Amino acid sequence: MRTPVIAGNWKLFKTIGEATALVNELKPLVARTRNVEIVVAPVFTALSRVFDAVAGSNINLAAQNCYWEEEGAFTGEVAPKLLKDAGCSHVIIGHSERRQYFGESDATVNRKAKAAIAAGLTAIVCVGETLAERESEKTFSIIESQIESGLEGLSAEVLANVIIAYEPVWAIGTGKTASDEQAQEVHSFIRHLLARLFGQAAADAVRILYGGSVKPDNVKGLMAKPDIDGALVGGASLKAESFAAIVNFGL
Ligand code: 13P
Repeated sequence: MRTPVIAGNWKLFKTIGEATALVNELKPLVARTRNVEIVVAPVFTALSRVFDAVAGSNINLAAQNCYWEEEGAFTGEVAPKLLKDAGCSHVIIGHSERRQYFGESDATVNRKAKAAIAAGLTAIVCVGETLAERESEKTFSIIESQIESGLEGLSAEVLANVIIAYEPVWAIGTGKTASDEQAQEVHSFIRHLLARLFGQAAADAVRILYGGSVKPDNVKGLMAKPDIDGALVGGASLKAESFAAIVNFGL
């Protein structure tokens, strides 16, 4: 059985004070939650203080990005080992907003994923098609190349430190969720692809999250699908009550 993951991607929102207030509000709402890996991803500047706030709780910390070098003359970048140092257990890699606005490619995703795993982090690797790609029936070929190139050179053992997030770009921040069936179809495709690349056992163990307008009222239907193992939540993760309701989808 795969432990579900509910991760909140806070994107470019919240000061340190707002971020710590949010986790302090969240903690009691999820304190009794069992068998869900709960993750929050604040901005870099809030990581360390949020880590102090979640210490001893069942909430894990993620960064939203990292660089692949350990150190050096790379102004403005943050290395995976520094994320570990700040308390992170997870890091989001290759989010579509990074691909769209910051020139991330499958090649940079691959380098970042390898570096993150080498530093002991779990890499949440994001994939997803745009509306134009879906409408021209390129969804599966896009997902295939994003996964193949993004995970190139990883071993089946190392795949245990990877979580895939399928986020159709047209569903992010739009209020348009993929239907449960549309999401399951792609998740199943991803799992078959992972089985071909890494073997069935490794593929069966990988958590594949859905992202794109996940809300308390649609999470249950998504989670009922056999290959949907959790959610990467944007907007609805910014309020403790709605994020807790998503975390507690099984209650
Ligand atoms: P929304 O939940 O706001 O659509 O964002 C999804 C997302 O991009 C999470 O990474």
